[in-house]
Amino acid sequence: MHRNFSRRDFLEFMGRGMLVASIFPNSLLTACASLEQSTFPSLTPSSADALRLASGLNYQIVATWGDKISTTESFGFNNDYLAYFPLRENDGLLCVNHEAPFPLFVSNHKSTDGKKSKKQVEQEMDATGVSIIHIRQEAPGSWKLIKDSPHNRLVNGRTRIPFSGSNKILGSNTALGTLANCAGGQTPWGTYLSCEENFHEFYGDVQYVNGKRELVYKDGFQWHEHFRQPPEHYGWVVEIEPRSGKTEKLVPLGRFAHESATVTVAKDGRAVVYSGDDAVNQFLYKFVADRPGSLRSGTLYVANLQEGRWIPLALDQQEVLQKNFHNQQEVLIHTREAARLLGATPLDRPEDVEICPRTGAVYLTLTNNVGKGNYFGSILKLEERAADPLAMEFTSSTFLAGGPETGFACPDNLAFDRKGNLWMTTDISGSAMNKDPYLPFQNNGLFYIPLEGPNAGKAQLLATAPTDAEFTGPTFSPDGRSLFLCVQHPGEQTKSLEACTSHWPAGGNSLPRPAVVVLSGPLLERLTGTG
Ligand code: FEO
Ligand code: CA
Ligand code: CA
Ligand code: CA
Repeated sequence: MHRNFSRRDFLEFMGRGMLVASIFPNSLLTACASLEQSTFPSLTPSSADALRLASGLNYQIVATWGDKISTTESFGFNNDYLAYFPLRENDGLLCVNHEAPFPLFVSNHKSTDGKKSKKQVEQEMDATGVSIIHIRQEAPGSWKLIKDSPHNRLVNGRTRIPFSGSNKILGSNTALGTLANCAGGQTPWGTYLSCEENFHEFYGDVQYVNGKRELVYKDGFQWHEHFRQPPEHYGWVVEIEPRSGKTEKLVPLGRFAHESATVTVAKDGRAVVYSGDDAVNQFLYKFVADRPGSLRSGTLYVANLQEGRWIPLALDQQEVLQKNFHNQQEVLIHTREAARLLGATPLDRPEDVEICPRTGAVYLTLTNNVGKGNYFGSILKLEERAADPLAMEFTSSTFLAGGPETGFACPDNLAFDRKGNLWMTTDISGSAMNKDPYLPFQNNGLFYIPLEGPNAGKAQLLATAPTDAEFTGPTFSPDGRSLFLCVQHPGEQTKSLEACTSHWPAGGNSLPRPAVVVLSGPLLERLTGTG
């Protein structure tokens, strides 16, 4: 349904700018626009193996894959989502997702090597999951990892994690580890939400043939060769208390390739969590908690965009679910199948969700759907009735479509700054980057999209990523003057350690290393209104 969106919706969006022009005197508007444009240092796309920044921005590395965070633990690989939890004014805990290993770098396993050893799988398990690191701001925009802090810990592929409530899944009330940790969320009660996205790449998935459960192992990391775990133990949202490390998998939020878990709070104090299922033709969900301060019970809904309504995935309310599932836990384990039976709207890879702090509108990235001819993706804007997150009806429209006209392709992560401007990172896959039809965009980038003013709705490139990498996890410090950002999978197209496609960040002939960086500088302060 998003095949023909781009031109028309883009023009509709620009049409709103025309309305503004008819209200304000032309000369004033032109003066504002030229002032903004003349002082805005735009960055051109780049295919360089470097982290390039618009003038007025600078960066420092905060943590790099392999950094010692305690005597026994090291910072994980392929950092993705980030959330900051303040301890004191200039001290805080940064929770960092580590999505997936790259075996050649992490366990020195080549695709031609055959079966991995148990030790190689353990090396990958240790580098996947979540790092919690204590960081301190020593000067404006200069943050350091405190290497010996007692707060530093890993919740990784080898940590035993209970399921929430009294849930037992395939006979066990705990799972071995968390994995595929992509984007996530942060609750108002100070916990971290980590989403298990492409879980099928680790212990496979299940399918039912004539009512019989079968395991399916496609290409992936093949951890099941040494640790045979039920795939039903993965694909959940994991809640972590950053200070204590207490962790559980939240069964009521359903099991699918959770990309994000973005929390807002309704007027009655209950949390509402939006979550995309990042695969082609999968769905957007929202979870409404039963009571304030907890996600341990509530109702999961899926979006029907044609009808503009949320459909409850509740066995007791849906006859079609009663015919196909024995109990509510089964519905939640097979969320995708249940949602499809209920008429959910297939989307073009729904990834990150952010909620506009000014209007309450929900913004969702749809990365792409090449099979449907949608190469460049878009950002969907969803408005709940009366801006109430508890509403069961909504309207939706394309906010901004990717493509050569708008200068970006494959939107993935979003963040709002304190002024209500949108920040976006892109994820053109390493295998497609710098090739037709993605040539004009070159490497992935960080974009700034003001929602108001003369440049409203224009995506402006502020940073370009090293070779094969994407930026992930944009998150602002509480004062808004630092932007934490991850560089994920630099050099992921490398086939041999002797010929790495990237050497970021150390340069020379070094191995590429994913890292968390922090951006600051006068341009950031000006754009976010924090200077
Ligand atoms: Fe892990 Fe959908 O990006
Ligand atoms: Ca993502
Ligand atoms: Ca986000
Ligand atoms: Ca992605």
